[in-house]
Amino acid sequence: MTSAGATIDFKNVRKTYGKFVALEDFSMRVEGGEFMTLLGASGSGKTTALNSLAGFVDIDGGEILIDGVPITKLPTEKRDIGMVFQNYSLFPHRSVIRNISFPLEMRGVARDEARRRSFKALEMVRLDSLANRMPHELSGGQKQRVAFARAVVFEPRVLLMDEPLGALDLKLRETLQLEIKEYQRQIGCTVIYVTHDQSEALTLSDRMAVMDKGRVLQIGTPEQLYDRPQSRFVAGFVGSNNILKVQSVEEGFMTLEGLGRFKGDGRHLIPGGFVSIRPELITIRHGGSGAHMAHLSEAVFFGNSVRYILRAADSKEISAIEHRRPGQDVLPLGTAVAFDLDTSDLVPLLD
Ligand SMILES: Nc1ncnc2c1ncn2[C@@H]1O[C@H](COP(=O)(O)OP(=O)(O)OP(=O)(O)O)[C@@H](O)[C@H]1O
Ligand SMILES: [Mg+2]
Repeated sequence: MTSAGATIDFKNVRKTYGKFVALEDFSMRVEGGEFMTLLGASGSGKTTALNSLAGFVDIDGGEILIDGVPITKLPTEKRDIGMVFQNYSLFPHRSVIRNISFPLEMRGVARDEARRRSFKALEMVRLDSLANRMPHELSGGQKQRVAFARAVVFEPRVLLMDEPLGALDLKLRETLQLEIKEYQRQIGCTVIYVTHDQSEALTLSDRMAVMDKGRVLQIGTPEQLYDRPQSRFVAGFVGSNNILKVQSVEEGFMTLEGLGRFKGDGRHLIPGGFVSIRPELITIRHGGSGAHMAHLSEAVFFGNSVRYILRAADSKEISAIEHRRPGQDVLPLGTAVAFDLDTSDLVPLLD
């Protein structure tokens, strides 16, 4: 089962529901075979973007193209798009194999051929032994594997997935994330995947687009979004982060509001502007003194690491993640620690 993925272009797409603007100047290009994730909070317009590509909603402005061809007037069934939703949406009165063969029946594929291809899809998701079960006899993870097989059985060039793992528990979600990625590599189709879970987006994507209020705020590889967020919103939404204000920049020094003066080059920073720095880049030292002192006001144990909240002298808080070795105790709250950071790790934010 292979299908060369199609390229997709959203060009300045606008979608309103009455007075409410759900998509505004929404632009994004997805390359053939790419795994693109739309990441955004509830209500940011992720489902609306998928639905406008699939043809479930009509757009009010802009254009959507598949392989360079405008599809806005093309009916849903002509768009060659597979879909997987959060709530499985299997046909309750059809067996597993007949659920999977449904899209082929719709397309007039002969019965034997449909059966052969459906079994192949079922083998891919490793459920061939459950072909004759009914949907209510499956676990959540099995249902979602069937939904996936049904979405790709007709070898669509584009596959859309709207929070497909949202209803599953964490462990199963992590297993299925790896499977989805593996199936997509085998099939080669273009994927647009919707989630509001930032760690899922980082795990799965070739590239990801962070959405807010119907717009794309930033688009890039997971590494680019993690390392170089451009705005306070993206810095705070992707992974955990410290967002700080630059008070002043001098030759060889810079001052962060509420934290003090740090040695180092600050030429990439603007006084009065915001910067972000990841908690794992804040170093802490206990038992001793240093240029920057703080007290621990919170500690969260993660097993392989501990996240501390440090309260600096004038009560500004900053979070630091410390990797730990077996036997290493979490420091008690109130402990005085020295902390430091490398000014070259400060990422300037545009707003
Ligand atoms: N049929 C509709 N009529 C009116 N408003 C709608 C309709 N569908 C969606 N909206 C609104 O448009 C906005 C975007 O909705 P959308 O479903 O695209 O968000 P989402 O990012 O998928 O959110 P979630 O993560 O909760 O699924 C929301 O504020 C929603 O209330
Ligand atoms: Mg949605």
